[in-house]
Amino acid sequence: MYAGAEEETVRGPGRVCLIGAGSSGIAAAKALHERGISFDCFERSDRVGGNWVFNNSNGTSAAYRELFINTSRPRMEYSDFPMPADYPDFPHHSQIAAYFDEYVDHFGFRDRISFQTGVASATRDEGGAWTVELETGETRSYEDLIVANGHHWNPRWPEPAFPGSEDFAGEQMHAHSYIENSIFAGKRVVVLGMGNSAMDIAVESSYVAESTYLAARQGVWIVPKYIFGKPVDQLRNDPRVPFKVRQRFTQALLRAYAGPPERHGLPKPNHRFGEAHPTVSGRILDRIQHGTIIPKPNIAALEGGTVRFEDGTVVEADIVVYCTGYKITFPFFDEQLISAPENHIELFRRVFHTDYPNVQFIGLLQPLGAVMPLAEAQGSWVGDYLLGDYALPSAAEIRSDIEADQRAMRERYVASKRHTIQVDFDDYLYELAKERRAGAVRARAAGYLPPALCRRSAATTAS
Ligand SMILES: Cc1cc2nc3c(=O)[nH]c(=O)nc-3n(C[C@H](O)[C@H](O)[C@H](O)COP(=O)(O)OP(=O)(O)OC[C@H]3O[C@@H](n4cnc5c(N)ncnc54)[C@H](O)[C@@H]3O)c2cc1C
Ligand SMILES: NC(=O)c1ccc[n+]([C@@H]2O[C@H](COP(=O)([O-])OP(=O)(O)OC[C@H]3O[C@@H](n4cnc5c(N)ncnc54)[C@H](OP(=O)(O)O)[C@@H]3O)[C@@H](O)[C@H]2O)c1
Repeated sequence: MYAGAEEETVRGPGRVCLIGAGSSGIAAAKALHERGISFDCFERSDRVGGNWVFNNSNGTSAAYRELFINTSRPRMEYSDFPMPADYPDFPHHSQIAAYFDEYVDHFGFRDRISFQTGVASATRDEGGAWTVELETGETRSYEDLIVANGHHWNPRWPEPAFPGSEDFAGEQMHAHSYIENSIFAGKRVVVLGMGNSAMDIAVESSYVAESTYLAARQGVWIVPKYIFGKPVDQLRNDPRVPFKVRQRFTQALLRAYAGPPERHGLPKPNHRFGEAHPTVSGRILDRIQHGTIIPKPNIAALEGGTVRFEDGTVVEADIVVYCTGYKITFPFFDEQLISAPENHIELFRRVFHTDYPNVQFIGLLQPLGAVMPLAEAQGSWVGDYLLGDYALPSAAEIRSDIEADQRAMRERYVASKRHTIQVDFDDYLYELAKERRAGAVRARAAGYLPPALCRRSAATTAS
């Protein structure tokens, strides 16, 4: 018997460990809590909210002083807990962090979270039990492990580093450590990247820097925050309409709104809309057209105090900001057991590990849309699974589902380490709801047997 099994609830899902109480972890915690599942949630920080806590004591938040969400409030809020009505469409990080705090108190599971308690390691024994070692030195045993440690905290620097970067006379930093634009005052700044960090940081720099250059190795479609007076992500997006049709419509809208990106001196996208993670900015085109941000191709080399770009132009630079994305990392797993080399990790519908169904991942996706409602749906799905109300398909079906998904992602998206866990918000929720209905039928046929009980009876039979 696993340590702690005597504390199980009536339906016997076994004890569950949940790593992380960011917006994904608390969504999973709420799902377990409302189902009466026995779980411990460990959070390294002294509060919930993860990335949205500015200056978070966990040391891993990427939030900067002027960070506002770029997915609108109705898209981002959990389905059963609206954000306060007086919040703007795109609230500040402090409002978002407060909202997560209120969520935990509203549903009453704060006491299930152990704060300032990092998980140092999680190992799996042959019978499938997880041994979790805490940073306090304590060790505990669990039947199921849910991972919600976030994937925007471990900076990816340019790989390989640019020639001359080791001798560059100025400062080089990653977007992850950016806090406020006072560091750019009077400086010559080069910002690298075409994602949302690059747009935000270039815009912020453009107000105080002597000069701001925005360098990119490939173009993207830039989505404004509003079209037709509505936040763009609130325009109707019906998953039953073929993607190609929706793509053509959105691309036509973007062209009508601002023309193609090359019209503003940015690189011409080598793809159609929806084939790269969208870059949302209501301000970047203005700042370029005011002459306060100068687009450039990729960096070729750093040379003393200058940056040379791939078109041969050279500028003097005091600071280079690499907005080059993040690595998916699980420091508590042995890399041989579970890892995401080059940001690749194959999971059934981005949640269930193919080799070890008693580890699930929440929020490990990159949606065209907000993460939170998807993490909420994933948490509730896992809750049903742990109770035996949902049963997974066969291993062969899972494998073919993952292969089809990987193929579709490869065919659709521009090749990049940032396009390994993409999903479309509405499509993901729609398909997941279908899968949950199918799994409920399987569960009924199997007698609603919780997976922990199946594992235990298999272990008893084997011995
Ligand atoms: C600058 C920036 C802006 C963004 N803006 C948006 C946006 O507008 N809309 C949107 O939907 N998404 C946005 N994102 C994506 C972002 O990842 C999500 O909003 C959200 O933070 C994901 O929540 P999470 O809980 O998965 O991860 P996190 O917020 O990273 O939370 C992970 C939690 O796990 C804890 N943890 C990690 N490891 C351990 C351990 N070993 N032991 C114990 N605890 C641990 C951490 O302390 C943290 O509290 C943004 C990302 C960045 C970087
Ligand atoms: N306001 C907001 O809400 C806000 C602000 C910031 C970030 N975010 C979110 O945070 C997450 C991370 O965004 P991000 O912008 O930090 O990272 P990102 O989306 O991964 O973008 C990284 C960018 O860097 C480029 N890049 C990577 N390596 C490079 C190299 N070696 N040389 C040249 N270019 C390179 C990528 O180009 P390729 O495409 O060619 O790989 C891409 O343009 C996203 O979910 C984003 O939406 C939100």
